Amino acid sequence: MKPKVYITRKLPEIIVRKIEAICEVRMWPEEDIPVPRDILLDEVKDIDGLFCLLTESVDESLLNAAPNLKVISNMAVGFNNIDINLATEREMIVTNTPGVLTETTADLTFALLMATARRVVEASAYLREDKWKTWSPMQLTGQDIYGATLGIIGLGRIGEALVKRAKGFDMNILYSNRTRKPEKERELGIQYRELDCLLQESDFVCILIPYSPQVHHLIGQRELGLMKETSVLINTARGGIVDESALYDSLKEGSIWAAGLDVFEEEPVSTNHPLLTLQNVVALPHIGSASKQTRLKMADLAAGNLIRILTGKDAITKVN
Ligand code: GLV
Repeated sequence: MKPKVYITRKLPEIIVRKIEAICEVRMWPEEDIPVPRDILLDEVKDIDGLFCLLTESVDESLLNAAPNLKVISNMAVGFNNIDINLATEREMIVTNTPGVLTETTADLTFALLMATARRVVEASAYLREDKWKTWSPMQLTGQDIYGATLGIIGLGRIGEALVKRAKGFDMNILYSNRTRKPEKERELGIQYRELDCLLQESDFVCILIPYSPQVHHLIGQRELGLMKETSVLINTARGGIVDESALYDSLKEGSIWAAGLDVFEEEPVSTNHPLLTLQNVVALPHIGSASKQTRLKMADLAAGNLIRILTGKDAITKVN
C-alpha cells in the first residue's frame, strides 16, 4: 500500500507527479488561499506524510489529529511554524529546505536594502502621481550604500551570502552571532560585534537569524534607540524578531531613518497596519526566496525529503 500524503497548497505539476509516483496524494487545490484549518485537521487524519508551508501551524492540535504521521516536510528553511519538540517526542521527522534558497534570499535582502536606502518605491510613486515638476538638489535624496557600514545579525548561510554582495559595494561589514566565527572573520574580512555595538556602529542593520521564542522582539525600543538617526533596518527573517510598535515609533520620530520589511509579526500584514502609513517603510509580502528557479528547487527538495522518509531512507535536510 502506498503511503498517504497531504499537500497543503497547489504545487507545480512536476513536483506532484514526483510524489504521486510513490505516494497516494491529496492536495489543497488553491494556489493563493491557504487550506482552512478545519479541512486541514480532517485531511491529516490518516496521512503518513505532510507537505506543508510556513502558513500552516503544525502544533499540538494538528499532531493529535494525525496519529500515523511520520514526516513533516516544510517547504521553507524556517520552521518556527512547527512544534519541533512535540514532533520529536512523537518520533516524527521534520525536514526543511536550507541551501537552495540562500543566494536568492540574499539577493532580495540586498535589493530591499538598496530600495529602502535610495527610496526607490517612494520615488516611483512620486513620478506616477505627477509630483515630479523639476530636478531639484535635495529631492528624494537617500543614504549612500557604497562604503557604508553593514551590520548583519546572524551569520548563517544567508548572512554569508549577503557579505559577498556587500563586498561589491565596498561596505565595512560587522556581524553579531550567538557564537563568534573567527575563521569566517578572516576568510570574509568581517568583524564581530556584540549586538549593542553593532546597532550603534552600523548604517544598515540586516536581520537574518531564525525565529525562536528566545529572539522574540530582540529588536525593541532600547535596541532601536541605539541605532543612528541615519540608519536603515532591514528584516527578511521573521517579523516577530522586531517589536513593530517600537519600530513604528522610531521611524515616526526619526530616531532611525527607514526600514525595509519583507516579514511581519502577522502575515499577511493588514493594509491598515500603522507601519504601512509611513513613507520611510518599504514593505514586501514575504518574497525572500521568491524566484521561479528557487521556489521549484525548494518544492523539489521538500518532495525529496518526504519521499525519502516514507521509503525508509534518511532525509536530505532534516531538522530533528
Ligand atoms: C521563508 O521565509 C523560509 O523560511 O524559507
